[in-house]
Amino acid sequence: MSDVDPIKASAARAAAALVQPGMVVGLGTGTTASQMVLYLGDRVRYEGLSFIGVPTSLETAELAGQAGITLRDLDDFDTLDLNIDGADEVDPSFRMIKGRGGALLREKLVARAARRRITMIGPEKRVEHLGVCIPIPVEVSPFGLKHVERDLQRLGATTSVRRRATSSVYRTDGGHCIIDCLFATPQEPEILDTRLQGIVGVFETGLFLGLCDLLIVGHADQAEMIERQS
Ligand code: A5P
Repeated sequence: MSDVDPIKASAARAAAALVQPGMVVGLGTGTTASQMVLYLGDRVRYEGLSFIGVPTSLETAELAGQAGITLRDLDDFDTLDLNIDGADEVDPSFRMIKGRGGALLREKLVARAARRRITMIGPEKRVEHLGVCIPIPVEVSPFGLKHVERDLQRLGATTSVRRRATSSVYRTDGGHCIIDCLFATPQEPEILDTRLQGIVGVFETGLFLGLCDLLIVGHADQAEMIERQS
């Protein structure tokens, strides 16, 4: 792990250390989650750690499989012991934006099934208000994409259909599209989420509300652990 971002690596290492033998653990998606998966692979190899991972994307499944982690599907379990994932922004109430990596629907399904949710970030991702600096990803139906986009614009969003570097429209693992939505002024996350979810053709939003119990903030020399105040 030589060319790894030390902040992400610090958060990822601290999170991987929290997995106990026999646990069923949701494995997030993104660069920080990938680091965490690699650290867990090291624990499997060198400590003989035995646990089951539930991946939130095909990318994570491939990486975790190569790292020697035993994988199962979400539907094999009613509840997971732990979910560990990254985030794009976290506010003081531990509300989050996720989905820059495109896995938000599966990430939310896995996070909701877990008894304890851990989020790994760098300090720059802690914000006062969500969605001021980055757009909120919304996973939508490819069929009727322009209609869904117009409905999102009617809610006040400046929209952008996510594309790949090749400029083809991005598709999630489930074959859906993502529309990134930027709002000119800070929105109340719960109200906005309800409005977004009310649009026909919206499958899920990147607003993750009530889905973080422990925040791990990476720093160059240590990782800070902050429990959600209930
Ligand atoms: C994946 O869909 C996302 O939710 C990621 O968890 C989030 O974008 C954080 O990614 P990084 O760890 O790559 O910053």
